[in-house]
Amino acid sequence: MRNLFHYTLALLICGTFLNAQNKKPLYKDKNVPIEDRINNLISLMTLDEKIMQMNQWTYGKNANPNNIGEHMKAVKPEIGSLLYRSTNPEYRNQIQKKAMTESRLGIPIIFGFDAIHGYKTVFPIPLAQACSFNTDLVQKSCSITAKESWLSGLDWTFSPMLDVARDARWGRVSEGYGEDTYANSAFAVAAVKGYQGSDLKDKYTIAACLKHYIGYSLSEGGRDYHFSDISNQTLWETFMPPFEAGINAGAATVMSGFNDISGIPASANYYTLTEVLKKKWNHDGFVISDWGSVKNLVEQGVAKDIKEAAKKSFLAGVEMDMVDNAYLDYLPELVKEGKIPMKTVDEAVRRILRVKMKLGLFENPYVDVVPEKDRYLLPEYLRTAEELAQESMVLLKNKNNVLPLTSKYKSIAAIGPMVKDSVHIMGFWEGMGNPADVQTIFKGLNNEFKDKSTINYALGCDFDGEDKSGFAEALQVAKKSDVVIIFLGEKRNWSGENGSRSTIALPKIQEDLVAELQKTGKPIVLVLSSGRPLELLRLNEMADSVLEIWQPGTAAGSSVAGILSGRHNPSGKLAITFPQTTGQIPIYYNMRESARPQAGHYQDIPRDPLYWFGHGLSYTTFKYETIKLSKTKIKRNEKLIAEVEVSNVGNRDGKESFLWFVKDPVASISRPMKELKFFQKKLIKAGQKEIYRFEINPETDLSYTDSNGKKHLESGDFYIIVNDMQAKFELID
Ligand code: BGC
Repeated sequence: MRNLFHYTLALLICGTFLNAQNKKPLYKDKNVPIEDRINNLISLMTLDEKIMQMNQWTYGKNANPNNIGEHMKAVKPEIGSLLYRSTNPEYRNQIQKKAMTESRLGIPIIFGFDAIHGYKTVFPIPLAQACSFNTDLVQKSCSITAKESWLSGLDWTFSPMLDVARDARWGRVSEGYGEDTYANSAFAVAAVKGYQGSDLKDKYTIAACLKHYIGYSLSEGGRDYHFSDISNQTLWETFMPPFEAGINAGAATVMSGFNDISGIPASANYYTLTEVLKKKWNHDGFVISDWGSVKNLVEQGVAKDIKEAAKKSFLAGVEMDMVDNAYLDYLPELVKEGKIPMKTVDEAVRRILRVKMKLGLFENPYVDVVPEKDRYLLPEYLRTAEELAQESMVLLKNKNNVLPLTSKYKSIAAIGPMVKDSVHIMGFWEGMGNPADVQTIFKGLNNEFKDKSTINYALGCDFDGEDKSGFAEALQVAKKSDVVIIFLGEKRNWSGENGSRSTIALPKIQEDLVAELQKTGKPIVLVLSSGRPLELLRLNEMADSVLEIWQPGTAAGSSVAGILSGRHNPSGKLAITFPQTTGQIPIYYNMRESARPQAGHYQDIPRDPLYWFGHGLSYTTFKYETIKLSKTKIKRNEKLIAEVEVSNVGNRDGKESFLWFVKDPVASISRPMKELKFFQKKLIKAGQKEIYRFEINPETDLSYTDSNGKKHLESGDFYIIVNDMQAKFELID
């Protein structure tokens, strides 16, 4: 009866808000300003309709109770959002049609999915992408992902992940852009622009979702989903900037994390979600919880039951509940009991509707349906996948220039569990990637070296276990070859979500295989595929060359083979430090200085990590001239220009990523030893030179943030640091 009353009332009101000229309700008129349309629509909605907007259902095959399965009839036309685990655009359109035509108000559904590093064309994992230091290429890969996703029925991806990651035991280091705050910020902007294009209303664009807000990567001990103890100083200086950059780039949505930030879970944190995100940064889109992170508040000990969890999460600023139905089940009564004001409900719905309006879903609720061959894995996409993959790979060591493999190597041994793999090489969150579409390393090598060298294959061993029965064959294959390449690595679920590991070393069997093959005395090249930095203490010593290929995705074969042959010159640099051992974690380049810099290090291992952030070799040689500064004293409102001339003095063309760091040796709040402030990547042809230039703006490049997010700029000495060079200047009042 009550519902009938609401319904009739809404119908009456609806009549009064019809656009006078065309008798269409205002919210359906695309010529009316968005905010007026939203106000009009909200005024027509019942509480139940509003709450349906704030709940996300999941579609497809999984065991979640909220799953509507794969049957249209289970989809209620009023639902707000679907986590759409299907590649079928027609089905999406049918579901959408139900929403548009069978619901009372015809509000479109927003369809989301995790297209993290590709959809069908799988690009390298984000950690690898960061090593390319090529934001243009990352942006391009995201726009390809957006196009493949949109044509499959999606409006929204749960990407990019901006959790600055400094503990390689945490499996999700693979999903983000490494250990540096500035690098994460730069790639945040690239990803948002790539997904969202210049106007979300355009075809082939999808809304981005910055995640996991915030501090998730600091889960204690690298154990996924655990508590993160974060000081406000660290929160502001390390974790907030990438999110702020993504918001400023226009990211439509944000996902709240699973983690508990020093006692207040990220999905119930009024400070981070409302005071910072909405009030300080003026984000006008919406926040979605992570999968079940509303209900998790009960496990985390801040809510006695799911009803209280729903209330806390909602009032803290999470507008959409991902798949656990906590809002659906409890918000109606919380509103009726007066525990949640209707005004707050309206504000939450307004944010969701705003994103739908910006996406143009009210006018264009359906996606185009084109044949799969025109949708996925187009030649241009595969070219970009190869380009990004090869630019991501990092040549860690190259003793005696064993790489690239010249024509003197007539026969090449390709040994190890990664050679013929097509599953693990795609990495975690591979979107809708299909192993059958992956070019394996084996295939890539055979294409690359055909007519030049023979490829002799042996498995050697599996990724783990104790079975050494394949060692003998591997040894034979190695003996009859001129060079031995061993392809080792991690399985896809050893990193990624819930992929924490107590050691970042490869299993012993893989190390034993290398030790065995080393006995042949042949040159040894190690090719490593992993979703995290690895402990290479023993392996590094046994190999002449070490190439980290990460998890390169669909174009694995051609990109790896291209680097080995020298068709591609490696240009990746580490976006994350490789420690000597797992016990050295946390170790990252921008730590603060110790009270006794020469002491206090672990006694049993060298002081430094094995490979620092920024390390990466090339097949050519770059010569850096000294840093030139336009002045040595600047005022706050002035700019300083730093320039370095770099020559390619080798005999191959090569790309060089140039990383500019700033050091502030004395400040009221101590600064890290150095901080990345800018990077550029340029192609320098053999025998040519390029000038790298950094325009330093004191307000952004020399200031620091305090524990309240307030910026400070203090006068005094500063240094610009590039490789092992530094140049001093002074900021004066
Ligand atoms: C992950 C998110 C992801 C979500 C939806 C969660 O388990 O933490 O990163 O976006 O699932 O699939």
